Amino acid sequence: MSQPSERGLFIVLEGGEGAGKGSVLSAVAEGLRAQGIEPLCTRAPGGTAEGQVIRSALVQSGAAWEPTAELLLMMADRAQHVGRLIRPALETGRVVLCDRFVGSTIAYQGGGRGLSSAMILELQKIAAAGVAADLNILLDVPPAIGLKRSLKRLAEEKSSEDLFERLDLSFHERVRASFLDQAAADSEHWTVIDASRPIVVVIAEVQVRLDELLEKRSAA
Ligand code: TMP
Repeated sequence: MSQPSERGLFIVLEGGEGAGKGSVLSAVAEGLRAQGIEPLCTRAPGGTAEGQVIRSALVQSGAAWEPTAELLLMMADRAQHVGRLIRPALETGRVVLCDRFVGSTIAYQGGGRGLSSAMILELQKIAAAGVAADLNILLDVPPAIGLKRSLKRLAEEKSSEDLFERLDLSFHERVRASFLDQAAADSEHWTVIDASRPIVVVIAEVQVRLDELLEKRSAA
């Protein structure tokens, strides 16, 4: 695989429901634009038009996929997303800001649904074919706080994409534990930010981590 400096920078925001990823991503993108960097902002599932079809089928209220079918649909979205959007952008040297990636698959389909991480990683190898985040930024929030925020936002937006929000608290506790385990196991590629604090504080902290990474890259 090519070196990060030759292939852009891949930053992933991860976290449970209501962690504030969307707001943080917009603010960070704005900060990059102010430095003359136009990032590609995307999300999973649903970063491509084809992936949006998969997203609609996956996260609507009342969807009842078998866990393995849910995993395979997430991976179909991944293959499309990486092949059509993320890899081409990285190859032209762009900074890619992505709302969720394989960390979410390990946390939700692994930790939450109970599927094996080894199987998820095998499928990820096929779907992402070597594309991996330079840095995963975990916005960590206790599920009791995050779920309340998320359900409020979905109600305001009249969104029916609430399949995961409707699952019980213990599911979301397992998701959180998996994210924290992933971060603890790979501190080179993960950083954890306490997202229970006011969003401006969270944004400022993410910005600092990103600036450090950009500096390191330009010095390399
Ligand atoms: P979002 O609401 O953050 O956009 O994400 C949609 C849902 O999809 C969210 O509840 C987490 C879930 N998800 C998975 O279960 N597995 C995955 O691999 C990804 C990317 C998301």
